[in-house]
Amino acid sequence: MGETILMGKRIIPYGLAALLGAGTVLSLPATAQTTSPADIILIRQAAYALNGGTFAGLKAAVEAKSDVKPLAARADALAKWGRAIPLAFPAGSDTGNPTKALPAIWSDRAGFEKAAANFTEAAEKLSILAKAGDTDGFAAQWKVTGDTCSACHKEYRAK
Ligand code: HEC
Repeated sequence: MGETILMGKRIIPYGLAALLGAGTVLSLPATAQTTSPADIILIRQAAYALNGGTFAGLKAAVEAKSDVKPLAARADALAKWGRAIPLAFPAGSDTGNPTKALPAIWSDRAGFEKAAANFTEAAEKLSILAKAGDTDGFAAQWKVTGDTCSACHKEYRAK
């Protein structure tokens, strides 16, 4: 790269880079860059895929009527994702990569956030039932939670 180190839009001479120290130089891009809408789409789809796997995995435990206590952490993870869902759909993240997000997410923001909150609440209850070792309650709440997934998909996700 010759005389300069190119980082995003900044061009810093080697001498200055040395003066700043490698640590400082490496930390600059974090403040200079934002995540593109195209990348946000990939991140949320990865999170949904993991979330879907976690949720499906709980079904085997429900069917086997096994001890639900160890499943609390997974229910907590679902709730954690539920709280983050609105952050994964900032304005403008409807384009840049193939996405099934429907325009209603942004035109009916309150409805979308309510759908995310309904899912979070259902997952929180799932966690409480797991911690209590309530196998039957957990099985019933698993279905309730699944209904909150479908409710959001029906309104806000393309087929
Ligand atoms: C508040 C709305 C909402 C809730 C709640 C929700 N989803 Fe989704 N889901 C979406 C949207 C919107 C997409 C499309 C995202 C995109 O393509 O950018 C999606 C995508 C997905 C995908 C595809 C991911 C990929 O590989 O592209 C899976 C799997 C999924 N959801 C499963 C679930 C499951 C299982 C639940 C419940 C445990 C759930 N979702 C809850 C809105 C929701």
